[in-house]
Amino acid sequence: MLTSDQLAAIRREYRSARLDESTIAADPIEQLQCWLEDAIRAAVPEPTAMALATADGNPTVRMVLLKGIENGCLQFYTNIESAKARAIAVNPNVALLFYWAELERQVRIEGRAQLLDRETVAAYFALRPRGAQIGAWASRQSTPLSSRAELEEAVAQIENQFAGIEQIPPPPWWGGYAVEPRVVEFWQGRENRLHDRFRFERTTTGWLRQRLAP
Ligand SMILES: Cc1cc2nc3c(=O)[nH]c(=O)nc-3n(C[C@H](O)[C@H](O)[C@H](O)COP(=O)(O)O)c2cc1C
Repeated sequence: MLTSDQLAAIRREYRSARLDESTIAADPIEQLQCWLEDAIRAAVPEPTAMALATADGNPTVRMVLLKGIENGCLQFYTNIESAKARAIAVNPNVALLFYWAELERQVRIEGRAQLLDRETVAAYFALRPRGAQIGAWASRQSTPLSSRAELEEAVAQIENQFAGIEQIPPPPWWGGYAVEPRVVEFWQGRENRLHDRFRFERTTTGWLRQRLAP
């Protein structure tokens, strides 16, 4: 078993880059696009993976995949009857977190989640591989299963149901959200824990940017 001393000894200096006033974009979405491009170029595994935190009383967090940035909003897809969807229905204020270890970077986002319209959902669903489309029909996300076999039987039944049908529509319980950021913070790891942090906050006149102490 790992001791606390062993855990405490795991330490790394961040030296690979810096973020400063002369290079950071004036718009946080533009800056996010730059860092996403860097993460893709650096072949980071799952560069679009982001943690999604919801808080309907008890905060909870899980990973989702960024699937679009439209009109300054970050889009992801999921089951809209899942635990996260129920939490968002109670409190649409959510937080998102990207972490690219290889680039020593994190981006924290706070904002409001809104359901995507069915046309957008259908257009994205049509791009998913058939197996993932069938999976969306077979899985009632976040509900208990008696066994793996129960899920596999549901998949077989859905495969039968759609046999010979080329275009599978999205299930009514599958959809997506657009998160409109209110706060976006960029963190670039630096030596001696003297990291660069820039926080953008949306105001009535535009984005207010501040450098924060690490
Ligand atoms: C890297 C990664 C990406 C994921 N992407 C998604 C996603 O885009 N949509 C989704 O519904 N679940 C995704 N999941 C699974 C979720 O983390 C979670 O298990 C699931 O959505 C159920 O969450 P809930 O019970 O809080 O609603 C992903 C998990 C990982 C590890």
